[in-house]
Order: sequence, then structure tokens, then C-alpha cells
Amino acid sequence: MAASLFQRKQRPPERGPAGNAIGLDIGTANIVVYRHDAGGRRHSIESNAFFKVPALPHTRTILEDRGILFFHKSDTLYVLGNAAEEFAQILGGATYRPMVDGIVNLKEDEGIAVIRAILDHHLAASKPAGTDLWFSVPAATLDQPDNVIVNESIFAGYLKELGYTPRPVNEGLAVVLSELAANHSTGIGISMGGGMCNVCVAYLSIPALTYSIGKGGDYIDTMVGQSVGESATKIKTIKERELDLSRPPANNIETGLHIYYQSLFTILVESLEKALNRSDNVPQLKEAVPLVLSGGTVLPGGSLQKFKEALAGASLPIRIADVLLAEEPLAATARGAWRMAGLDNDGIH
Ligand SMILES: Nc1ncnc2c1ncn2[C@@H]1O[C@H](COP(=O)(O)OP(=O)(O)OP(=O)(O)O)[C@@H](O)[C@H]1O
Ligand SMILES: [Mg+2]
Repeated sequence: MAASLFQRKQRPPERGPAGNAIGLDIGTANIVVYRHDAGGRRHSIESNAFFKVPALPHTRTILEDRGILFFHKSDTLYVLGNAAEEFAQILGGATYRPMVDGIVNLKEDEGIAVIRAILDHHLAASKPAGTDLWFSVPAATLDQPDNVIVNESIFAGYLKELGYTPRPVNEGLAVVLSELAANHSTGIGISMGGGMCNVCVAYLSIPALTYSIGKGGDYIDTMVGQSVGESATKIKTIKERELDLSRPPANNIETGLHIYYQSLFTILVESLEKALNRSDNVPQLKEAVPLVLSGGTVLPGGSLQKFKEALAGASLPIRIADVLLAEEPLAATARGAWRMAGLDNDGIH
């Protein structure tokens, strides 16, 4: 790795207005809300999922009594968010998702209603006047550049109905703003999520190149599931609970997880080579810059090392000073959006 003038410093004190800024990340797997409130900085993570149960007498009352997030339509109760994952584990079966590969799935009839209900729960009641809200949007994929406009249009529309003046921020840029503030928001931010990987090359907080690939943790779960004959849901649970990429695999499922993690890192690095080497927009940086990895898919032990190994053979027009992990990988995108909202609130754009 090349030396850099950009040294990673201590995270600077949080800059943002007390209370009034919200960063929102509506992802394929999770919806994350990031804000400051009287109790300090905090974020909430809600699974972007639902689980259907029959609307039997009493069930509705019991769900209400237990404070479980749900809505009722026809003869079905839609259990939402983290509770949906619990129901799926206890009752068996899989959750449904409103989004696939980073994009709102318009084939899923109740998908938008599910996202709206989760946003209602986390945002509607607590809106103080003058709250600035920035929400993340994925970048265009290299092969299907138009599909990402769906998210921005749907999310902005509903957030306006809730009374906000929402503003979009690219997911990869949000990662740079969250994690590379001490490096003048210059470098490469990558979010490896459930449905996508989002990449942004930024110079002094200006996004010079953004793109996404439509593969993430779900791709690993699906491919391993197919290989070993198990459901993707089961593979996801094992991956999240047990996987450590720095240890040799202990069984067939772990072997599959190692193979498909390797595959995803290779695809991501190849996409970096392709996108950076063909883009006229890549800044001509004299100095080596940091690259930061975030998103739930980088959580297993050994991810950083495996990514570094995949990157070692790449030929990039930008020198990478160091590869870092985000401090809170699941919350980095929402945190970057929150920082944007904070600056917005200060009247700085
Ligand atoms: N402890 C863990 N170990 C491994 N993977 C994990 C862990 N926790 C979450 N994940 C995986 O991270 C992914 C979700 O990450 P994240 O919340 O960043 O995605 P997202 O923002 O919802 O999706 P996207 O940005 O692709 O739309 C899922 O594939 C999930 O299985
Ligand atoms: Mg994401």
C-alpha cells in the first residue's frame, strides 16, 4: 500500500445540530434512522421485512398488547420489521422483503405499504418543526443505470407526506462523509449491503464517481443455499451468527460462505477496476487515499483482510493508502446522511 498525506485521525467531535437532523437509510435488508436526541446520538435499525399471519380473532389484540409493529389487510396481518424476523424464526418460513437488490420491488403488492408503516413508526410521531432529513439513495448500476430512480421517487414522496423536506444523498458518498471526515472527505467509500454494493470516489466531499453492483449479502445467502440445499434464510442466520472468515471453514456451509464471500469481493474489485479505468470523472489524485468498507456484509471477522487480498492484485488509477472498516458498519450510511442534514441545518451546503 502507498503512503498517504491523509492520515486517519481520531474521529472529530460530532458536528450537527442538537436534535433537529435526521439521517435515513432505507436499504434492502435494514432501515436505519440516525439522529441526536435528548439522550445523545443514537440510531435505530429495523429489518426492512414483513411476515404474514392469518388475521384470527385475538391475534390482532395480542400483537397490539405486545407493542408489535403490524398492519391488517383483508384476512392477513402483516408483522413488520424486526418482529417479522422473530416470527419467521419461531414459526418457520421466510420473511418477505419490499426491496430486491437495492431497489423497491414493484411486483410486491404490499411492499410500499410496509416501508411506509415502518417509516411512520420511526419518523411520524417525533417530527419537530424544522427537522432536516437526508435519505440515502443507491447509485446507478453499471449495466442497468435507470432502475435506481424508483427509490428516490417513492421515498421522497412519502417523506413529504410526513411533513419533511427530504433530500437525497448517494449511499457511497454518505459512507465517505461518515467515515473519512478526518481525511477531508476524500477517498473511496464502499457500502456492502444486503442487495447491493455502492461505491463512491469523492474528492473533498464532492462525488467524482458513483456506481453500484446489484449483489451483496443476499447473493451470498442464495448461492450458498443453492449449493448445500438449504434455504437462504437459514444460511443468512448461520452467516450472521457464526461466520469468521479468518478461520478455516468447519463444515460445508462455512466452505460455501468462504467461497461466495471470495466471489463477491472479486466481483467488487473487478468492478472497481472497470469503473475507475474507464471513467473520465475519476479525480487525478496525487496522493494515495483511504478506502473505507461499510454495510452489514463486512461484519464477519476477517472481511477486511480478505478484501485487502482481493484488492492487492488490482490495477487502479488511484493509489490506495489504507483499507479501513467503518466504525459502525450497519449505521455508516445513515450517519453520513445525518451529517449532511446537520450541515444543511447550519445553512452550509
Ligand atoms: N453479523 C453479520 N455477519 C454477516 N453478515 C451480516 C451480519 N449482520 C448483517 N449482515 C448482512 O448484512 C446485510 C445487510 O447489510 P445492510 O443493512 O448494510 O444492507 P442494506 O443497507 O439494507 O442493503 P442495501 O444497501 O444493499 O440496499 C445482509 O446481507 C445481512 O445478512
Ligand atoms: Mg445499504
